Amino acid sequence: MLVTKLLSLCLFAPVALASLQGPFRFSQLTTHVQQAPPPGFNHTFQQRYWVDLSRYRAGSPVLFVDAADKPGETAVQAVKHGIVEHIADAVSAAIVILEQRYYGQSYVTPNLTVANLQFLNTEEALADIAYFSSNFPYEAHAGLNSSIRPGGTPWIAYGSWVSGSKAAFMRKLYPDNIWGAIASSAPLMAVENVWQYLEAIRLRADPLCVQVITTVVGEVDDEIEQAGFDEHGEIIMTPMLLYYRDLFNLTREKTVRDFMNQVATPLGLWQRRSWDPSQEDHSAWEYFCNNLTWSIALSDPDSFSQGSSPVMESEQYSQFKRQSISNYAHYIRHYLAVGHQKNPSQTTESLHTHSHDPVSIKGEIRRNRTESQKTDLGQVWRLWYWQACTEWGYFSTAEPAPLPAMLSRSLNLYYLTEVCRFAFDYHRQLILPLLPAADDYRVPVERINKYGNVTIASPRLFFVNGELDPWLDVTSHSPLAGDLRESTGDGLLLRSHGYGSETSALPRLEDEPTEIMLAHQKEIDIVKSWVAKWKGSAQFNEL
Ligand SMILES: *[C@@H]1O[C@H](CO)[C@@H](O)[C@H](O)[C@H]1NC(C)=O
Ligand SMILES: *[C@@H]1O[C@H](CO)[C@@H](O)[C@H](O)[C@H]1NC(C)=O
Ligand SMILES: *[C@@H]1O[C@H](CO)[C@@H](O)[C@H](O)[C@H]1NC(C)=O
Ligand SMILES: *[C@@H]1O[C@H](CO)[C@@H](O)[C@H](O)[C@H]1NC(C)=O
Ligand SMILES: *[C@@H]1O[C@H](CO)[C@@H](O)[C@H](O)[C@H]1NC(C)=O
Ligand SMILES: *[C@@H]1O[C@H](CO)[C@@H](O)[C@H](O)[C@H]1NC(C)=O
Ligand SMILES: *[C@@H]1O[C@H](CO)[C@@H](O)[C@H](O)[C@H]1NC(C)=O
Repeated sequence: MLVTKLLSLCLFAPVALASLQGPFRFSQLTTHVQQAPPPGFNHTFQQRYWVDLSRYRAGSPVLFVDAADKPGETAVQAVKHGIVEHIADAVSAAIVILEQRYYGQSYVTPNLTVANLQFLNTEEALADIAYFSSNFPYEAHAGLNSSIRPGGTPWIAYGSWVSGSKAAFMRKLYPDNIWGAIASSAPLMAVENVWQYLEAIRLRADPLCVQVITTVVGEVDDEIEQAGFDEHGEIIMTPMLLYYRDLFNLTREKTVRDFMNQVATPLGLWQRRSWDPSQEDHSAWEYFCNNLTWSIALSDPDSFSQGSSPVMESEQYSQFKRQSISNYAHYIRHYLAVGHQKNPSQTTESLHTHSHDPVSIKGEIRRNRTESQKTDLGQVWRLWYWQACTEWGYFSTAEPAPLPAMLSRSLNLYYLTEVCRFAFDYHRQLILPLLPAADDYRVPVERINKYGNVTIASPRLFFVNGELDPWLDVTSHSPLAGDLRESTGDGLLLRSHGYGSETSALPRLEDEPTEIMLAHQKEIDIVKSWVAKWKGSAQFNEL
């Protein structure tokens, strides 16, 4: 209480009106890794960026935001409603937003064939940031001179999700370009099968809601186990499975696995929960669970715990199962089954907002060879999938037995990575020429993990995560990192918030939930101290 009061006296005035200008275009090198791109590629491409110089004074820092896996416009919107503007206010920073190669309109090639996607990878994208900052085209912006480049100005990166990962990797790889970095909800460990994502939801979400989900999945999985396979290796659609599929009105799904993949779609809503009501879907998980637990909220789940044997199954448990299936089906039928018919390649924006889900909504593309092999620039879904198939992974199967499953166990890794084979023709040799060819596809996650994994650390590199983030296991606050962050003091774990929760901000920080406000205050203080440190060391150099 006291803390809140004190802070509200010394916090900031509402942020000034945003004046981000752009997009501008920068001539970026197609490759930094190879001497020159192979014949058929241009040497450079036009990379888009935005700048906000409204607060900038000579000697101020640059706040750098990488748009990562989203079009630049999405990052511009996020900056306008987020903590970045508050930090910029506090240190009179210039804001610079850079679109990642291939995303948005920073096209590198005229289409997205496998050969043309070869320069879409984190290594090249990190080198882009270094080259861009070192060669920042100050001449194009009134009031700037060459001192705006990293040698003369501290560049401080802020990023959330993969943008945060890149901020952290930049700090480690290019410390002369990026003076400090804040990485928010940043995945640092790439892993092919991130089943821990679902387990995190299972352990943290409303237990009754979770029990409805695991019960429905368990019921269908029991049926699947008895169904057997046809000559193509597909699960046979028995009359009972057909009945379930029609109950959910997922009649367009031709296979049992596609059906169960669609049923799992709402699980992605957990990470979109937010304290900030302006965020899309901020309460959608709660609505989903209200639907699932409707009319069974008052029964006692302990009286029919998971372990009870079918022989001893009580009438009450049968009733619970029936109601669970009926509630889940009702939700899907009314709120999802209609939307699942949309052609995903045309819903660019929603694809991007969902690209953080390990459980995909893009089943139609994934399993349709014709669809998945379209390579025109409109097939933006290919971009993150390419990165998933060639370096990040993040496919999620069910939790291993004997843990209860939130997702059908029929959705095995082979099914989930089918997109890698269908869309990219599974040319492992092409992706990593030095490795021997293998029959079974494995995502070469070491391309990411070599940057430091969950224990990455560097001076002036700070991590923020939320305890409720389903990605927590692959972040700097992963249990795999032990108590590293406590001993290094370079991280903040928010106890009652989840994925990306401190990225958005209110115009007045004192109106935010206390934990968010304190995190924002801390970020501002840290950046101030980094800028002070720069000024100190710059003076030292001059002496
Ligand atoms: C090279 O750049 C030009 C001009 O931007 C563009 O029209 C052309 O498609 C590019 N070619 C390749 C192979 O990327
Ligand atoms: C893709 O673009 C390349 C040029 O980079 C061109 O040679 C090739 O024919 C195009 N392929 C398709 C399928 O459009
Ligand atoms: C850049 O401009 C600032 C003032 O706006 C000046 O102090 C500084 O010397 C200039 N640097 C260069 C390299 O011209
Ligand atoms: C089932 O979905 C179709 C669209 O795929 C829709 O036209 C129909 O009304 C839905 N039926 C029910 C009972 O919700
Ligand atoms: C069920 O979910 C929908 C969609 O999120 C929501 O509009 C509705 O209010 C929910 N129903 C209940 C009973 O919460
Ligand atoms: C794949 O998509 C095409 C449209 O691009 C459609 O005509 C075809 O029926 C689909 N195939 C399957 C197996 O769904
Ligand atoms: C990442 O680091 C953690 C903790 O040191 C370790 O347990 C894990 O195996 C590493 N993962 C990879 C893919 O290297």
